[in-house]
Amino acid sequence: MNYLTITGLRHLRMPMIGLGTWRAPPEEVQNSVLQALDIGYRHIDTAFNYNNEEAIGLAIEKWLEMGKGSREDLFITTKLPHIGNRSKDVEQFLKLSLNRLKLDYVDLYLIHMPFAFQMNESTMTPLQNPDGTFVLDLETDNVATWAAMEEQVRNGYVKAIGLSNFNAEQIANIYQHSTIKPSVLQVEMHAYCQQTQLIKDCRLMNISLTAYAPLGSPGAQMHFSKKYNYNLANYPDILGQPVVGRIAEKHRKTNGQILLRHLLQKDVSVIPKSTNSERLKENFNVLNFTLDDGDMEDLNNLDKGEDGRIFDFKFFAGVEKHPEYPFQNLLRKTEELA
Ligand SMILES: NC(=O)c1ccc[n+]([C@@H]2O[C@H](COP(=O)([O-])OP(=O)(O)OC[C@H]3O[C@@H](n4cnc5c(N)ncnc54)[C@H](OP(=O)(O)O)[C@@H]3O)[C@@H](O)[C@H]2O)c1
Repeated sequence: MNYLTITGLRHLRMPMIGLGTWRAPPEEVQNSVLQALDIGYRHIDTAFNYNNEEAIGLAIEKWLEMGKGSREDLFITTKLPHIGNRSKDVEQFLKLSLNRLKLDYVDLYLIHMPFAFQMNESTMTPLQNPDGTFVLDLETDNVATWAAMEEQVRNGYVKAIGLSNFNAEQIANIYQHSTIKPSVLQVEMHAYCQQTQLIKDCRLMNISLTAYAPLGSPGAQMHFSKKYNYNLANYPDILGQPVVGRIAEKHRKTNGQILLRHLLQKDVSVIPKSTNSERLKENFNVLNFTLDDGDMEDLNNLDKGEDGRIFDFKFFAGVEKHPEYPFQNLLRKTEELA
């Protein structure tokens, strides 16, 4: 297993390959986590919003009970949801996640998104207006939320804290106004959206990167359209990209393995999701070959920059009006084209 050393109150080792669990239903994910742990995964990525923390907690509990390893061998990440993104709610949501995961601490706690919605207190879901738009919390103060995140490190409930879906300016603001600096940034990253400048910016602040949707999140389009009635035009098939296929043939690897290896060779950790036992193995088996400079260059050339972004979060209807919506540049581009 390869690790990234992440900084925080103290140094920690984060396994470079983790198991993603978004859209992994509870009835499947418990078994998948156990299978993944048997394969050798030690890093599991979940979130309050994924509604599967309990099942993951049961799997971890079982694995520990079977004597297959100790808590210290694991690296568990979860996230503060968009409905709890305010300083007074951090402890409540973290404790809820810990309770569901049956853990005393998580290794990494991330602010899931820089924007926030008002919460329906009884269902713990975002409030929506009659027209379907989400009720924005316009008081969002990420520096204050961050201070509450730091408090949880001091309380011992988390080892490291970080950000997800923040843009460079938002990250720099937290960096400048914090005592415990962000350890990790988790953002969309794959061959079509390589985040080259953001990686450089983060490296200057000693922030490690985790790539979500490293395979291009096949299947997310169906989810967006079913759950939110939101269709992304020209949803990309990154796994089916011919250059990726050619490099896979050359190395006798699968297209998925090439996409993951490309990110790993840039010192980015990856969290591919799978609940399929063969693909779990395939995605973990990416440390026994190396892409050469030519392969890396060909894959780097697939980058479409902002045009390659899949997750613009506009399936949360009205989110782009939130003052902390991170992708204002996307909006400007749409306006220019209109
Ligand atoms: N911070 C955030 O806002 C955020 C947003 C999105 C995702 N994430 C995290 O990042 C993780 C990964 O992102 P993601 O789940 O969106 O996308 P992904 O990992 O790029 O793709 C997962 C999809 O690809 C399929 N798959 C897995 N391995 C494959 C392979 N080797 N070949 C072909 N298909 C394969 C999976 O289906 P099977 O299960 O059937 O294999 C699943 O449908 C998430 O699960 C979540 O933990 C975070």
